[in-house]
Amino acid sequence: MSELQDLERQFLIERLKILKTNLGRLELMRAEYGINAPLSLLNEIDKQKNEIAEVEEQLRAQSAADLPSLETPHNLPHAVGGFVGRATEIDEALERIEGRWPVICFEGIGGIGKTSLAIEVSHRALERKYFDGVIWTSAKDRKPVLNDLLDIVARTLERENLTRLPKDEKLSAVHKLLRTRRYQVIVDNFETIEDERILQFVIDIQVARGRWDRGQSLAAQMAW
Ligand SMILES: Nc1ncnc2c1ncn2[C@@H]1O[C@H](COP(=O)(O)OP(=O)(O)O)[C@@H](O)[C@H]1O
Ligand SMILES: [Mg+2]
Repeated sequence: MSELQDLERQFLIERLKILKTNLGRLELMRAEYGINAPLSLLNEIDKQKNEIAEVEEQLRAQSAADLPSLETPHNLPHAVGGFVGRATEIDEALERIEGRWPVICFEGIGGIGKTSLAIEVSHRALERKYFDGVIWTSAKDRKPVLNDLLDIVARTLERENLTRLPKDEKLSAVHKLLRTRRYQVIVDNFETIEDERILQFVIDIQVARGRWDRGQSLAAQMAW
């Protein structure tokens, strides 16, 4: 990295810190206002988040492989403490994630350990920086509809503003967002989902991946 690039990078990192501090203050204000938070405050929060995403993007573009100070966005549940065994399954899943498989499914009877395995594998993939973001969704507590899935993707990738778009626009915006980088989407308890648009969404992601030819790809992982 040249001296100039290094200075640019330092500047971007400093700017990121300032933006994140500002965002923290604004979020605090929002929490104090509760549901009465003024629209201008919400807009300002969105603006800060978008700026943060832009600066992070610039930093990534500068040195894609080396981002020690920036965490990969994810909403994974904590790994199961005392997770044991499953070495073969973990290796196989990680191999498939690295390979050409856009969708990976874990199948088995209830209680066999599918959810735990998906969480474990995803944490390992995160450590290895296989993805630029990991989105966990679960149909355990209630049956999600497509809109819920889109909102979770947007929030996890720190694009809260997308959640307020009209539904059609939101679908294409989230689709576009997922195609910009390499993201993992996990749908736990997939078999209980009744909204067929979610299945279509997963299929469309695969198609999108096929068209994506710049070395980036997208994986959806389903556990049921
Ligand atoms: N490899 C493992 N090591 C330790 N505990 C596990 C392991 N796999 C599953 N468990 C435990 O077994 C229980 C059922 O696992 P879970 O992943 O929820 O199964 P499923 O999703 O297939 O229904 C959970 O309490 C989980 O913590
Ligand atoms: Mg489960």
